[in-house]
Amino acid sequence: MWQSVLAMDGATLATVTVKALAYLASLMSAGSALVLASLSALDGDTRRMVRRLGVAGATLAGVASAALIPLAAAYLAGGSWAGAVDRTLTGMVLDGPAGNSLAVHLAGLAVLAGFFIAAKAPRFFAFAGAAVVCASFAFRGHVLTEPRVLLGALVTVHLLGLAFWIGALAPLHRMAGRADPVRAGAAAAAFGRRALWVVLALAMAGGVLLVLLTGNPLDALASPYGRLFAVKLALFASLLGLAAVNKLRLVPALLAGDAGAAPRLRRSIGLEFAAVLAILVTTAVLTTIASPDMEG
Ligand code: HEM
Repeated sequence: MWQSVLAMDGATLATVTVKALAYLASLMSAGSALVLASLSALDGDTRRMVRRLGVAGATLAGVASAALIPLAAAYLAGGSWAGAVDRTLTGMVLDGPAGNSLAVHLAGLAVLAGFFIAAKAPRFFAFAGAAVVCASFAFRGHVLTEPRVLLGALVTVHLLGLAFWIGALAPLHRMAGRADPVRAGAAAAAFGRRALWVVLALAMAGGVLLVLLTGNPLDALASPYGRLFAVKLALFASLLGLAAVNKLRLVPALLAGDAGAAPRLRRSIGLEFAAVLAILVTTAVLTTIASPDMEG
């Protein structure tokens, strides 16, 4: 596994970096919309911050996702940067799955941007925009094999769940720093009640995806894809651990009026964010340099 990771050329390294950024920005934007539409416990200032974050995320996601097109052309040119500006190669990429996915992705981001900017846009646009952005990942990559519709649906559910989780981190972090402990605790508790089901759904969707893509995840451990996946799952376990401490210890303490729990919750959310970043980078590496059916 490490040989494959260390052997990445400049163009592949740039692809992984931009892809991870695109994941983060897309999920942050979709998640900000989902959080605004479903968490009424957030205060007015926090809701305004989430809207600004959503617009910034949508803009960055559009730019980063578009930048993946010339990078894919560079990959086709054998890692040569000349490929990135070659019209024939970029045209080929745009005509293929990456181009279809980008078109759907940009359409979803436009709906989200409209939702964030329009003062009283109906919640429907938040759900629709987030669903389209997450579904755009079903148009490219490893999920383009059979059973294609099921794999596409699973990756969409997986990403919608992640978006909700990631989108809630910044507003809960902010409220724990500014609102009174009981109000911050109420917002975190409202998130925690939904998160239980959301995390279950995203983990089940991810688990079924893994089984369908690899046949047998234990056999896949012999390949770079499987080993990178094991890293992803270990990071996911640490993320779950942090979330459990928040839900079972820090949020009840906040609800009981313990102001000392607020800085601890903020630190824990910061660590959750770091774990999310590490998982996104690992996912970007494994979807770029490894394949579920690759041997050795
Ligand atoms: C039980 C835990 C999880 C499992 C079993 C799982 C499984 C999967 C699988 C099998 C895929 C398809 C990969 C491919 O196309 O080769 C996937 C995609 C993805 N996962 Fe997860 N995952 C889990 C948790 C997470 C977490 C916690 C994050 C982020 C913080 C995450 C982020 C992503 C992203 C961004 C994709 C889309 C990749 C793409 O299509 O380019 N996953 N996941």
